[in-house]
Amino acid sequence: MNRDELIKLANEAKKFAHAPYSKFKVGAAILTEDGDVFTGCNIENSSYSLTICAERVAIFKAISSGKKKFKSIAIVSDSKNYISPCGACRQVLMDLAGGELEVILTNSSGKKKVVKLSQLLPFPFTSTDLKKKKEK
Ligand code: THU
Repeated sequence: MNRDELIKLANEAKKFAHAPYSKFKVGAAILTEDGDVFTGCNIENSSYSLTICAERVAIFKAISSGKKKFKSIAIVSDSKNYISPCGACRQVLMDLAGGELEVILTNSSGKKKVVKLSQLLPFPFTSTDLKKKKEK
């Protein structure tokens, strides 16, 4: 599975976006270490804050199918600007996939930028921060 194939699958998932409020359709496709792909689209809600982004749908589908290791995620929209994951998705991806995850940002002209998640979310809060430390 190369990057362009992953982007194609993200575009297919975008068709299922439920975005009646923003009209902003997003698709995502995440590649697991063992070569499986899980896709997602954004799903909006009339109670706006209950909306979930395409990236979280994709990784939650993967996690709930037993996947634990991830290589890459592609994100697509109809915007001429590169689509980049929101802060909430960056945090979720960091927790579940780690900073080495390759993030493929695309624009509507079909161009892509490839970054690591650690570039999008430097100095993250992670599970290691929850470990109790001895009081000084
Ligand atoms: N959205 C995503 O699904 N992913 C992103 O990376 C950015 C934003 C969705 C949430 C909402 O349904 C719509 O795009 C507008 O914010």
